[in-house]
Amino acid sequence: MEKPLSDKVALVTGSGRGIGREIALRLADDGATIIVHYASSKAGADDTVAEIEARGGTAFAYRADIAKRAEVADLFRAIDRMPGHLDIVVNNAGISGGGKLADLKDAQVETIVGVNMLGPLYVASEAASRLRDNGRIINFSSSLAKYPMAGDGLYSAAKRAVESFTESWARELGARGITVNTVIPGATSPGMMDNSSAHRAFFENASPFKRIGKAGEIAAVIAFLASPEASWVSGAQILANGAANT
Ligand SMILES: NC(=O)c1ccc[n+]([C@@H]2O[C@H](COP(=O)([O-])OP(=O)(O)OC[C@H]3O[C@@H](n4cnc5c(N)ncnc54)[C@H](OP(=O)(O)O)[C@@H]3O)[C@@H](O)[C@H]2O)c1
Repeated sequence: MEKPLSDKVALVTGSGRGIGREIALRLADDGATIIVHYASSKAGADDTVAEIEARGGTAFAYRADIAKRAEVADLFRAIDRMPGHLDIVVNNAGISGGGKLADLKDAQVETIVGVNMLGPLYVASEAASRLRDNGRIINFSSSLAKYPMAGDGLYSAAKRAVESFTESWARELGARGITVNTVIPGATSPGMMDNSSAHRAFFENASPFKRIGKAGEIAAVIAFLASPEASWVSGAQILANGAANT
């Protein structure tokens, strides 16, 4: 049976670990060739590639710090040398934390804004002219953007910015059939949630399901948005947080 993403090429940023790894595996299972992007997790990225190949798929690993525009440009020059054309971009990479707003050091501001806001902007900007018609850009926010908490204010603000420019992208690229959407996960594992065991019970109780989300459940949402069936969903914000109020 034909797979929904046969003949498609998908870039998944930050797919050496966490939610990104699950997305890469899922899109590969759906037939896409995967560009497994990483920044520091080379071993994880190689492992994601190996797992995709073991399942009969095709994948390549590339490194870039997405907060640095020149490195993102290099990443796309490397993609240009690959066979095929880019169809799907999943702007998954992100970094949590920061601390109380008044205490943030310049380097923290640069990193939180750089990775969570400027990185997705740089990646989508390089992708826009390369994506084939009817392509897909899927950006990542967080339920912490909807329900900001003390200690994560800049992360929340950066994610809100992503939600906002995603709507602009959707209007700028719609004439070519390209959809651009934001997925808003709640607390999810494996992922950055695993770094903060103190918060885990809080987030489990915040959902009527009394658990946190599974990375595979986020990957399933991405798989739908990446599929041809999602051609009329664009500029949307899709909350996947088990009805939690945080
Ligand atoms: N897990 C959750 O509870 C949760 C909730 C809401 C939203 N989210 C969002 O979901 C997305 C995935 O999060 P996750 O939980 O899977 O996080 P994670 O396990 O901490 O993984 C973060 C990913 O981002 C990449 N990354 C970090 N800094 C980077 C940089 N400078 N350049 C390029 N890549 C960089 C990392 O790559 P390397 O390891 O290679 O450095 C890693 O693959 C993020 O956008 C996050 O904000 C997660």
